[in-house]
Amino acid sequence: MILEVKNLEVRYGLKKAVDGVSFSMSAGESVGLLGANGAGKSSTLKALLGMLRPSGGEIKILGGEPGSFSNFEKLGFAPEEGVPPDYLSGKEYLSFVSRLKKPSKREHSEEVEELLSWFELDPRKPIREYSKGMKRRITLAQAFLGEPDLVVLDEPLNGLDPLMIVKLRNRLNEKRNKGTGLLYSSHILSEVEKCCSRAIILNEGKLVLDAPLDAIQSEYGSIENAFAKTVGDS
Ligand SMILES: Nc1ncnc2c1ncn2[C@@H]1O[C@H](COP(=O)(O)OP(=O)(O)OP(=O)(O)O)[C@@H](O)[C@H]1O
Ligand SMILES: [Mg+2]
Repeated sequence: MILEVKNLEVRYGLKKAVDGVSFSMSAGESVGLLGANGAGKSSTLKALLGMLRPSGGEIKILGGEPGSFSNFEKLGFAPEEGVPPDYLSGKEYLSFVSRLKKPSKREHSEEVEELLSWFELDPRKPIREYSKGMKRRITLAQAFLGEPDLVVLDEPLNGLDPLMIVKLRNRLNEKRNKGTGLLYSSHILSEVEKCCSRAIILNEGKLVLDAPLDAIQSEYGSIENAFAKTVGDS
């Protein structure tokens, strides 16, 4: 297992944002994390990444505790919000993250150049001069640094143009074929269908469905129906 989550609970004051969520992922699996606004997707992902301390439950990610250095280099994460230090150029920022992730690696520039060119980003321009979609792309680019075993993307498509959406889909499918795990939170169900083989649906902090997409297809007819049934009926 690359990920094991047991009875995860995240509270903000009295509010339980994640309420007893359990699931696991085996190596190379691609899982879509779905749910209405406020369902607890980002809170779940932040807990997995060690960005917030859960109020209950257990998490094991890539063999370690959330936020530990042992799994940091094997994990790629693109948060839904936040901009990298914007006084840096795209190249400076990716080189910085690359060095943090793989301090012993001698040559960082080749991978950095490849990612900048793949995401069609100007290596020299400071990030503050990027457009909204370019800021999203640099956030996504850093998630792929160092060939991670698990890539976690929180609403990666926000602000991306249609061509980049297709390109990202192809990259994710390539990575999948090479055995990279993917945990993909999105509201674009059609895209989740194209990139994932399993879906988890959260509703008001609780896990209400966890099934392979083909099983969802045969039981509900479509992922939209499954979403409407498990989220809409509450
Ligand atoms: N920092 C915070 N302080 C207080 N409450 C928060 C905080 N972050 C999230 N919440 C609350 O926790 C719940 C879950 O939020 P979360 O961001 O995890 O949802 P989400 O599923 O990612 O939603 P979205 O689809 O809008 O991104 C919501 O009720 C939200 O208001
Ligand atoms: Mg969110």
